[in-house]
Amino acid sequence: MRLFNLLVFFLCASISIYAQQDWCTPDRGELTDLNNLHTIKPRMVLTIPVVFHIVWHDSIDNISDERIQSQIDVLNTDYRKLNSDLAFVPDLFKHLSADMEIEFCLASVDPNGQPSTGITRIYTDIKDIGTLNTPSIPSRAFIKHANLGGVDSWDYEKYLNIWVGKFQDNSGYLGQSSFPWYVDKSEDGIRIDPKYVGINCINTTKKKYSYGRTLTHEIGHYLGLYHPWENKCSAAGDQVDDTPSQSSYYTGCPGLIYDYGCLTVPITMNFMQYSDDKCMAMFTEGQKTRVWDILQNYRPALLTQTINCNFLSKDTILSESHIKIYPNPVNTCLTVELSIENQLEVQLELWDITGKLIYNEKMPSIAIRPLEIGYLPKGIYLLKINSGNQSITRKIIVI
Ligand code: ARG
Ligand code: ZN
Ligand code: CA
Repeated sequence: MRLFNLLVFFLCASISIYAQQDWCTPDRGELTDLNNLHTIKPRMVLTIPVVFHIVWHDSIDNISDERIQSQIDVLNTDYRKLNSDLAFVPDLFKHLSADMEIEFCLASVDPNGQPSTGITRIYTDIKDIGTLNTPSIPSRAFIKHANLGGVDSWDYEKYLNIWVGKFQDNSGYLGQSSFPWYVDKSEDGIRIDPKYVGINCINTTKKKYSYGRTLTHEIGHYLGLYHPWENKCSAAGDQVDDTPSQSSYYTGCPGLIYDYGCLTVPITMNFMQYSDDKCMAMFTEGQKTRVWDILQNYRPALLTQTINCNFLSKDTILSESHIKIYPNPVNTCLTVELSIENQLEVQLELWDITGKLIYNEKMPSIAIRPLEIGYLPKGIYLLKINSGNQSITRKIIVI
């Protein structure tokens, strides 16, 4: 690093304690040492085109376009290390967290070249189609085949297929993914219960899984990642060096713990754990290396496909259209959705009408957050969103 760059760096580092200054955000290109340019491995962010196949029996399972878009937003936050909850990861692990440099979009063309929303919808006569499999060995998933009452996949080499269909109650699964090396390519992709898609303000025990991270986890499998307890304490483990082995899985919100079986301190906040959605926040650099190796070896066509995306209009100015807040009036849980491309941090503030600040949080501008408001007395509140010197206020009615 040259002296000038060092200076800029320290200046920025000290200023950023006080304010998030746009002009000080180091631009990757500017800070690159030109002498070392040839040693830097070029890599472009990979965008994976996704198609959601919604196969519903009860209309509640025919989830909305907004829910699906909120899922895409969660994925793009988690896979680009833009999730604000990374702040709660202990320092012991934070330096291992990785920007996977993978993004997801709803495909805007189908395999026949026809325009598409990236979402297909069909009604099915079959209840619980999400978990139904043929008894044959190997078995086939009903939801993944038109002749079994489901929908055939779109070209698995170019699209990530995600089938959404109700799972049997108490199936014990939230979602399920094929690994990249699975031989039956007509099964390639992910199936998931509609309850766990996107940000879902549900008021049940299932809430633990209502932040859209089941798909963050399943896509990890789709890209070749194992659970950190794979192979228990053995050296091979999950084939990733920087994820400590663990003797079994942990659920809930374990935080910093000691694994007495393997004598390790596992990263319980890893997306490949079974922790609650709120308590997972990172992939590691080792997982990123494995995923990019696997992409080259098992999913090379994904790296070169040129499928177009459906884009939401995104600008750099904070405006009403960047903010979706729903439902309103609200009773238990409010979803706040922001879509501003500039990656400026925004400040979220909830005020009551007497002018008391009830809640505030920093969140990245491309993000989606459920806000618990069930504990608030009924009445009118103001939700203020600040970014730099711009601000937008919305009236929220709690009923
Ligand atoms: N049990 C599922 C699996 O093994 C996913 C668990 C995802 N965890 C979550 N907090 N959403 O694939
Ligand atoms: Zn899993
Ligand atoms: Ca490991």
